[in-house]
Amino acid sequence: MQSGKVSIEWLLFVAVGITFGAVLALWYLADSGLNREYDVPRAAFTMPSGPEVVAEGERLAQVRGCFWCHGPQLEGQKYFAEHQRGLIVVAPDLTRKIREYTPAEFARTVRNGVRPDNTSLQPAMPSFAFYNMSDADMGAIMAYIKSLPEQQGLEGEFRLLPLGWWRWVAGELPPNVAELIDHDAPRPDPAVDGAPVARGRYLAESICTECHSDGGRIRVPGSPDLIVASAYNRADFFRLMREGITVGERDIDYHMVDASKYRYTYLYDDEVDALYAYFRSLASAPVDVAQNIR
Ligand code: HEC
Ligand code: HEC
Repeated sequence: MQSGKVSIEWLLFVAVGITFGAVLALWYLADSGLNREYDVPRAAFTMPSGPEVVAEGERLAQVRGCFWCHGPQLEGQKYFAEHQRGLIVVAPDLTRKIREYTPAEFARTVRNGVRPDNTSLQPAMPSFAFYNMSDADMGAIMAYIKSLPEQQGLEGEFRLLPLGWWRWVAGELPPNVAELIDHDAPRPDPAVDGAPVARGRYLAESICTECHSDGGRIRVPGSPDLIVASAYNRADFFRLMREGITVGERDIDYHMVDASKYRYTYLYDDEVDALYAYFRSLASAPVDVAQNIR
């Protein structure tokens, strides 16, 4: 009797110990992965100023969706839902970050996804697309944010709850955004001979890749290879970029519709033309459209 009771208690004790140890190991693995440091050089960065730069910066911030995720005054926003499947993700108040960080730190955070303390952002912040942004565009966006009144908005947060630790360790979550970026790759040059194809490539790689990029980067499910755009005629492409309406007026995912209506209406006509020229240049062979779209 007596000895049987003791061994049940002992078993319980061992079971609790193992569970506790496993949870601790999960936490440790997730936490050390999340807080890994990245040694990306802080390139010197001079922030431009002046009313024209600020106005252009606002337009570029619209086009690149900063408001969509960071809130209408860039005051910060809870991103997706709280506690969603083991994650809490909050896009921070940028009007404070622009004051807290030096220009070099701010630019590195946005384009390399590495905070001043060398930890990485998560790919909910699309630095893998913004990596391709030129100094001029990055600087204009920063000048615009600096011109906004300072808010008492939200601190940024990317926190894993126990289910999230498990999802992280199981590889169900995307890796730190700094790992998705080749920090030595040359940025596409928007000004190669002023040619529309180069300009279009620059725009596509620093804007559309947020959802359409390939090679293991983050991709909104269903976003097709952009070569499909080369099968559009110019008028239809403009309609897609301005109104989110596809050829054949198919019902499509709201991400694309909203990006067109609320972001790409800020693109100039010659920028839409440049994008179109770039996509056309990709199609060296005839495109099987039916294979690319759902
Ligand atoms: C698709 C949503 C999304 C878009 C678009 C977006 N952000 Fe973010 N951003 C986030 C999220 C979420 C975080 C928090 C990520 C984290 O802490 O891991 C973040 C973090 C940041 C940070 C890091 C602050 C810090 O140190 O913690 C900066 C700076 C930033 N964003 C600037 C920008 C700018 C500038 C733009 C527009 C060019 C932009 N973001 C567009 C979602 C977005
Ligand atoms: C916020 C995410 C997001 C961004 C940013 C985005 N797209 Fe899309 N796009 C999508 C999704 C999702 C679909 C798939 C829609 C569907 O088929 O339901 C799509 C579909 C498309 C299509 C196919 C339309 C068709 O005929 O089916 C084209 C072309 C396209 N996008 C072009 C662009 C271009 C050009 C840019 C940049 C200027 C861009 N997208 C930026 C999410 C995005």
